[in-house]
Formats: sequence, C-alpha cells, structure tokens
Amino acid sequence: MNYKIGASILNADFLRLGEQIAEVVPHVDEIHLDVMDGVFVDNISFGVPVVSGIRAAHPDAVIDTHLMISRPHQYAKDFVAMGSNIVTFHLEATDHAYVLLTQLREAGVSAGLVVNPATDVRLIEPVREYLDRLLIMTVEPGFGGQSFIPAMLRKIETARAMLGDGVDIEVDGGINDRTIADVKSAGANVFVVGSFIFGADDKAAQVRRLRDRLD
Ligand code: DX5
Ligand code: ZN
Repeated sequence: MNYKIGASILNADFLRLGEQIAEVVPHVDEIHLDVMDGVFVDNISFGVPVVSGIRAAHPDAVIDTHLMISRPHQYAKDFVAMGSNIVTFHLEATDHAYVLLTQLREAGVSAGLVVNPATDVRLIEPVREYLDRLLIMTVEPGFGGQSFIPAMLRKIETARAMLGDGVDIEVDGGINDRTIADVKSAGANVFVVGSFIFGADDKAAQVRRLRDRLD
C-alpha cells in the first residue's frame, strides 16, 4: 500500500502562506486545499487564485483540491485549469456525481468523491469504477482543529472492503500522531493533516512523527 500524507493549509498563517507552504512541500506527498463557499459548509476559505499561486511557486507539488462547495460541477474545471492534480467533491453536493467524475478524468486529473460523516459510504458503490479516490470525512467539514470521530473507523473498513486496493481511501479531520495508526489499520492510505502540522513551529518534525506511526 502506498501511504501518503497531505498537508491541509486551512490552519496555516495566511499572512505567511507562501513561506509556510514552502516549509512543508519537501516533506509531504500532497498539498490539500480546502475550498469552502459558505453555503455547502459554514465557512469561507479561498478559491482559484490561491491554487494557481501555489502551482506557480511549486510546479512539481501534488495539489489535492477538496471542494466543499455547492454546485461543484460549475467550478471544478477552473480548479483543473489552475493546476490541481486531484479534485474531490462531495456526494451530498450533487445529484450528478457520475458526470463530474468522468469529466475530471477526461480532463486528465484524478477524480474523487467525498462523504460526510453521516453519509452511508455504500452510496458510492454504483460509481466505484469512475473514482480514483474516496475521501471519508472524519469530522464534519468546515473547520480545522476538530476531534476525530471514532465511528468513522468502521466506515473506512467498509469502504476498503468494497473498493479493494486500487482506489485511494483518504481521511480528513482530526488526524494526528494519536489517530493516524488507527485509520491506517482500518484501511486508509491518504492522510490529510492540518492543525497538527501548521500548529507547530517545526512542521517537518511533525510530519516525521506521523511517518513514524505509519511504519
Ligand atoms: C475540514 C477540512 C480539513 C481540515 C483538517 O473541513 O476539510 O482538511 O482542515 O484539519 P485538521 O487536521 O486540523 O482536522
Ligand atoms: Zn479537506
């Protein structure tokens, strides 16, 4: 299994964003960008210009764009054009997941669906062959710094049994050096980490702590 750590910049210091991203890029596998519209979730974060700025500064970074927006089909192409490698959107935000998943793949990016904590993960089964990644929210989406919801372990197990090893299972919310081993054991292989990395002075050391738990 290929284990990957994604750094979520949501809890970075936005006045020093460039610096802080440059600090983590050499140590993580992906940069995770949480796009929020204040409608799908109760928070507004950032949009397309931030993604293009990060792409310009880090041509080789893997950019994982997590769309927490209503009408993802209307905006996804802009995030592809600005250099996202992976785009994920919420099943709860669209009735046409199949259409957007196939459009993303045709545009040459990895396509992923996201499910909120209370959403039954088996709902994605009918479109499983059209996704490269399933993101299981392990907190309610909207804010960094929340506590991991333990009941999500069972959901990760269900998802891994359903999808086999060919699809990335990503977890997002409350992942730190105490929770990462459990989500790995349940079957996750992509770990999004926000406040545990950006809340510390030595960000590289935090990533090392996480990798130690994965060994
Ligand atoms: C929550 C976001 C997460 C969040 C993770 O809606 O999708 O990516 O920033 O932050 P932590 O690791 O602090 O839970
Ligand atoms: Zn996220």
